[in-house]
Amino acid sequence: MKATPSDRGIVYLVGAGPGDPGLITVRGAECLQQADVVIYDRLANPALLAYAGHAQLIDVGKEPERHAVPQSRITALLLEHAQAGKIVVRLKGGDPFVFGRGGEEAEALSLAGVPFVVVPGVSSAVAGPAYAGIPVTHRDLACSFTVATGHRASCVDDPACDWRRLARTSDTLIYLMGVRNLPHIVAATVEAGRPPTTPVAVIQDATCEGQRTVVGTLENIASLAEEIEPPAVIIIGEVVRLREKLNWYEEQQPALACQPCLDLSEIS
Ligand SMILES: C[S@@+](CC[C@H](N)C(=O)[O-])C[C@H]1O[C@@H](n2cnc3c(N)ncnc32)[C@H](O)[C@@H]1O
Repeated sequence: MKATPSDRGIVYLVGAGPGDPGLITVRGAECLQQADVVIYDRLANPALLAYAGHAQLIDVGKEPERHAVPQSRITALLLEHAQAGKIVVRLKGGDPFVFGRGGEEAEALSLAGVPFVVVPGVSSAVAGPAYAGIPVTHRDLACSFTVATGHRASCVDDPACDWRRLARTSDTLIYLMGVRNLPHIVAATVEAGRPPTTPVAVIQDATCEGQRTVVGTLENIASLAEEIEPPAVIIIGEVVRLREKLNWYEEQQPALACQPCLDLSEIS
């Protein structure tokens, strides 16, 4: 697919993938190559900006608990550049529609009549576990998974959150943005009836060179993972046991880390 210049401009909402620069999609990399302006987040690997050779780069990265650039300003930037006739890439970590506020940005573009295209990305919700050697489903162990935000897990008594109900929805439970609230998440999960011996993994900086995984159970993971810092993926369920056999990335990491980005000029 070629991004086509338009009189009115266009916005590509592009998923950058979870961190490993090789996990952006071919279409996402092509959009970067065509971009006049790239507006990018903290979780999008900056190595990917090398694809956007001639673009103006705008960093709107957010730290946890802090919005560096208010969402309203990010939306205004998208509209301003697209309405000036530019090809704009909005580059977001993982998938733009998985806890990435991509939906809100698309709504604003739609309201303003600005054309937009969504380029899905590889979400950390599944790529994190995969790089830790944990399949989110498995024929013998789990036939379903739920991805939820752990951000509001402190409101365990708020029916709008209902963490106990969430814990009953699927065999495998995956929480993003949950590091700070890990003790609440595991407590709610046990209250929901999961055995305290259920295995849990917390994967920090998944798919990146410094990936670090802590494994425990619902009973002890909160203390074992005390030193884990965001960004991290929490995965709860029997599938975590497979890591003992399938921990491919961390065992071979020196050989696999920092693979060069795909050279798209070879194939476009
Ligand atoms: C605002 S959400 C964005 C999720 C993103 N759109 C996705 O699909 O992966 C940010 C959360 O995603 C998770 N996350 C994103 N990248 C990660 C990474 N490389 N390692 C671990 N967790 C990550 C963390 O839970 C982090 O707090």
